[in-house]
Parts: sequence; C-alpha cells; structure tokens
Amino acid sequence: MANSDSGDSVTDRIVRVLETFTPTRTVQTAAEIGRRSGLPTSTAHRIVGDLIEAGLLERDDDRRVRIGLRLWELATRSSHALRLRQLAMPAMERVQSRVREHTQLAILEQDEALFLERLSGPGSGSNVTRIAGRLPIHASSSGLVLLAYGDRDFQERILSGKLSRVAPETITDAAILRRKLAEVRHLGHAVAPGFIESIATGVAVPVRDETGAVIAALSVVLPRDAPVDPALVELRGAAREIERALGFRG
Ligand code: PHB
Repeated sequence: MANSDSGDSVTDRIVRVLETFTPTRTVQTAAEIGRRSGLPTSTAHRIVGDLIEAGLLERDDDRRVRIGLRLWELATRSSHALRLRQLAMPAMERVQSRVREHTQLAILEQDEALFLERLSGPGSGSNVTRIAGRLPIHASSSGLVLLAYGDRDFQERILSGKLSRVAPETITDAAILRRKLAEVRHLGHAVAPGFIESIATGVAVPVRDETGAVIAALSVVLPRDAPVDPALVELRGAAREIERALGFRG
C-alpha cells in the first residue's frame, strides 16, 4: 500500500476515518471526520468521498456522513460474532422475560468487553451498555468474567496497567482485582455492584464453546440492591443452553 509522508498506509488512513465513528457519534460532517481523524483535511475529504462512492459510508439529506449499509452487510456476513449472537438469542430472550432487566452478551475484543446484544424491557433500570459498544474489562461484570477466564498474559497486562475509576466503587487496585478474579473463577460468576455506575449491579456468567474455552459473558444489569440469586439461576440455565447450542458437552 502506498505510504504518505507520515508513513501511514492507505489502509491506516481509511481505518482512522472509520474509527471516528463511535457508538454515540454515528453521524458527522466531513469536516468533523477530518478533524477527528487527525488527517490533513484534503486527505480526509478524499477518503470520505471514496468510501461514500463504495457505499461503505453514506450521506444523509443534510450531507452529514454515517456508516453505510454496505459496510454493515460486509462486516456482518459470516461473522462468528453474529453466529454466537443468533445461537444465544432464544436463551437471552428467556432471561430478559423472566428477570425483566437488561440482558446482554459480550465477547473480548482488544482488552475490552464488546457487546454483541442487549435486550431491555420497558421497566428495565439504568444501563450504559450499547450494542457494538464496549465497557472496560476490570469494571463491568462481563469484563470480569472474560478476564477471570482469560489467558495469563492478558490478565497480567490488565493487572499491571492503569485500572481507571469508572465509578466510585470500581476496583482500581491490582491486588484487590486479582482476588476478585480468583473469586469469579471459584464461584463461576461475577457480581459488580456499583463498579460501572453507583445505581446498578452487573451480574455475569461465562459461556463456553465446544472446546470448553470461555468465549463470551452473559449478563444482566440489575438495580443496585436487587437480589442477585434469582438472576443467577436464569443466567446459568441460559449459559448452559447456549453452550449446548455451541457444541459444549461438559
Ligand atoms: C456491568 O456489567 O457490570 C454493568 C454494565 C452496565 C451498567 C452497569 C453495570 O450500566
């Protein structure tokens, strides 16, 4: 790929343009994309134009730019995340209808919990999670499950890095986090009261694939002082059902 003066490839520049879109910033002007990508304005405008022509970005009636359906189509096609989400859906719907609180499915992506699905009811309480959004690995219940069952290198990388405070009760001390991870493995679930936001408690269980490896976390977000045990019963049953659908016979 041809490199620019700064040494980044065409692909790097396209990625920088696409990464200006976030779960909360889904429409932008070309000028905003240029500024946020850090690319020279003319380069950013040219890439935006090319991506629009290819259908990977789209312009709305106000000439603002959003991710194109073609990009969604390509990204979704035969994605393993989509297969997992589809297999998990019936069990997730049951958890949501019985617990009547947010029910979500997350996988590990670049040291964060990436949410593939979130089901919510009209009466569900607070929840900062978004589909295709991420939460910090050390702070969310799903993240704690993915970390507790993750490989050693990954755990040590997180434990030796900065554990940022998301809410007053987030674990920011490595020794305490290490003990929490041991507890998650011992109990087979994670409870995160007030770690992401003071008014909510996340509860998550692992989901294993046919090899027995933990590939996802299934969670509910409860009002802070709601009882955890009834939700755990539902989560465990649902995780087993998803695991059977994935071929796990353990
Ligand atoms: C959690 O999984 O711990 C969690 C997620 C979203 C929230 C609160 C807690 O809003």
